[in-house]
Amino acid sequence: MRKQKSIGIIGTGSIAEAMLEGITNQELLKPKDIYVINRINDDRLNFFQEKYGICTTRDYQEIVSNCKYLIIAVKPRDVSELLITLRKLVTENHVIITLAAGISTDFVEKSLDKKIQVIRAMPNTSCKVKESATAMAFGRYARKAAWDFAEEIFSSIGKVSMVEEGMLDAVTGLSGSGPAYVYLMMEAMIEAGMKAGLPYEISQDLAIQTVLGAAKMVLETKESPKHLREKVTTPEGTTMAGIKVLENAGFTDTIIEAVESATRRSQEMMIEYSGLHESRHVL
Ligand SMILES: NC(=O)c1ccc[n+]([C@@H]2O[C@H](COP(=O)([O-])OP(=O)(O)OC[C@H]3O[C@@H](n4cnc5c(N)ncnc54)[C@H](OP(=O)(O)O)[C@@H]3O)[C@@H](O)[C@H]2O)c1
Repeated sequence: MRKQKSIGIIGTGSIAEAMLEGITNQELLKPKDIYVINRINDDRLNFFQEKYGICTTRDYQEIVSNCKYLIIAVKPRDVSELLITLRKLVTENHVIITLAAGISTDFVEKSLDKKIQVIRAMPNTSCKVKESATAMAFGRYARKAAWDFAEEIFSSIGKVSMVEEGMLDAVTGLSGSGPAYVYLMMEAMIEAGMKAGLPYEISQDLAIQTVLGAAKMVLETKESPKHLREKVTTPEGTTMAGIKVLENAGFTDTIIEAVESATRRSQEMMIEYSGLHESRHVL
C-alpha cells in the first residue's frame, strides 16, 4: 500500500462531495492522497477531479492498492454488491469506514470474510461547511490507530461523538436526517414571513440568522434549550402566542415521531439491504 494515510472514497454522491469539500480545505490530507471511484457517472468523476484536484479512477484494484482507508459512500442497497467486489481485493491491512445507513460493522466484516478493521460513521451533509455532527462506532477488529485517524478526519469537518454501534440507528434518525428537518422548518419560517408581508430576501435572511443565532446561544451559553425558551417567553407576549400554536398542533410530539420514524427506517434498511432478519437494537 502506497501510504498509511491515504483515503479512497467509494461513491461520488452528496455525502462524498460534502466530505471532500471539508477535507480538501484542510492540511490533513493532500489531494494526491485522496482517490475517488464511482460506478457510471463520468461527469461526476470529472467534476470531482477538476474541482478538488484529487485522483479519480474506475479501477477498484487501483483505489485499493493506493489507499489504506476506504470510505463506503454508496446507498445502503448498493453496499452488498460493492462488498462482493472488494472482498477479493482488500487485505487485513485496510480500514473500511462505512457511512451507509443501517449497515452494521458485523455485516461488512462477514461480507469481506476477513478480520478487517471496520468503522461505522454517520456524518451529516453539514460537513461541507465543517459543521457535521458525526457519530462513530467501531467494529470488533478496529484498532486505536484507525480510530484516531477516523476521528481526525471527521473532527476536521465538525464534531464527533463516539457511540455504541446499537445507537447508530438513532443517530441516523436524529443528526443524519436532522439537517432536512431544520431546512423544512426554515422553509416554513420563510413562507410565514412572506405571508406576514416581508419580501423573500428579508424573510430568508431573518430565518437563517435566527436558526444560526439560536444554535449558537445554546452552544455558547451552555444553558438548556428549555431554559432559554422559558426565558424569552413572557406570559401574554408575542412569543407565547406563537409557542401556544406550535404546542396545540403537537410540534414536540411531531419532531419526536419524525426522529423515531427515521430511526426505524434505518433499522429496516439493515434487514432489507444486508439480508439480516433481525435488528440488534429495536426501539
Ligand atoms: N446524504 C447524507 O446526508 C448522508 C449522511 C450520512 C450518511 N449517508 C450515507 O452515505 C451513503 C451515500 O449517500 P448519498 O446521499 O451520498 O448517495 P448518492 O448521492 O445517491 O450517491 C451514491 C453514489 O454511490 C455510487 N455507487 C453506487 N454503487 C457503487 C459501486 N459499486 N462502486 C462505486 N460507486 C458506487 C454512485 O455512483 P454512480 O452515480 O456512478 O452510480 C453514487 O456516486 C448512503 O449509504 C447514506 O446512508 C448519507
